Amino acid sequence: MAYTVSNLTDYSAPALEKAAAECTAACIVEAGAVRSEADLKAFRDRWLGRKSGILTQINDLWLKGAPKEAKRDAGMLVNELKTRITEIFERAKVEAEVRVVVSGVQSQVAVGTAGTIAVAESVDISLPGIRRPIGAEHPVVKTSKEIVSVFQKLGYSVAEGPVVETDYYNFEALNFPPNHPARDTQDTLFIAGQQSKPQRERLLLRTHTSPVQIRTMEKLRPPIRIVIPGKVHRNDPPDASHSPMFHQIEGLAVDTNITFGDLKGTLDHAMKALFGSSVKTHFRPSYFPFTEPSAELYVTCFICGGSGKRGSDPCRPCKQTGWIEVLGCGMVDPNVFEFVKDNGYDPKKVSGFAFGMGVDRLALLKYGVDDIQLFFQGDVRFLQQFG
Ligand code: DAH
Repeated sequence: MAYTVSNLTDYSAPALEKAAAECTAACIVEAGAVRSEADLKAFRDRWLGRKSGILTQINDLWLKGAPKEAKRDAGMLVNELKTRITEIFERAKVEAEVRVVVSGVQSQVAVGTAGTIAVAESVDISLPGIRRPIGAEHPVVKTSKEIVSVFQKLGYSVAEGPVVETDYYNFEALNFPPNHPARDTQDTLFIAGQQSKPQRERLLLRTHTSPVQIRTMEKLRPPIRIVIPGKVHRNDPPDASHSPMFHQIEGLAVDTNITFGDLKGTLDHAMKALFGSSVKTHFRPSYFPFTEPSAELYVTCFICGGSGKRGSDPCRPCKQTGWIEVLGCGMVDPNVFEFVKDNGYDPKKVSGFAFGMGVDRLALLKYGVDDIQLFFQGDVRFLQQFG
């Protein structure tokens, strides 16, 4: 039965000692049952609560109710009980904390005859703790987030799609017909054992983030403005500037009356936001099956400022040209809209622009890293530098 404070009538030394021992024993047993923060709080309220805790009751019943001649002894007893119960509480508190920290190590609390708490298996809390090093954001993730946030401020949303993709989304719906030579530019890694399926259902590792353009247009009606960060794969042997796995950010804006002027203005703004307001942009004609016309965007080299030189040395990142290619872009080809026409993308009514950039390459340039492999080797000494 739970311990309750009874009235004291006998104030002789043995009687006082007996009452104190009963109280302490009960307190120790209850402390041993504390398993959680909530238990600990309940224990504290029950024993040390100011208004009606057991110590307060003892003070009221045993001390205030004591006859004059017994007051001194009763006072000493109550004080001693106060010290003991507070000690027991403090130990229970440490025990509870240890139990939380070392979950799995079940501490067996046993009550010794002298009223001490013996801990069979415990943790020496005076030992120095294990320092958990704070991780650093990976430079590629950091760069990706920076780029995404520039577009989010322009009202773009973020979309994502699968890394294992079908031929349909990676190629066909992006206007790469079966056997089209442009497929060869993509160095695709195919998933094995797909030959029995129709070509458009065959699986591969997506070679670009562009398939998410189609996936998003299937789900959302125009107007849309999205950016798509993600991992892509190509059958490139690893070297200082190639990796079979890398990262891209895709962008797509579709509405009525989107023009090439919108494309240029948006990307010029984004490049200035990313690389500083003094960079200049420059578009050169290019070819992608899913955009027409298509272009490559160059920015003035942010290493040499466009001069092609670093002091008297040639600037390597821009190969002395003063310009760095950052992305591919163009106006969405009407043939692409044909694949999602039923969801409101009638090429006669809507137009749009798209772009895609390699994040890893930008991170290399931004941080002056000369080997892309360093990003993926997981060497903490390298990664710590970006903390
Ligand atoms: N998907 C292209 C690639 O990986 C990059 C690209 C170019 C994306 C032009 C686009 C675009 O959206 O309009 O080579």
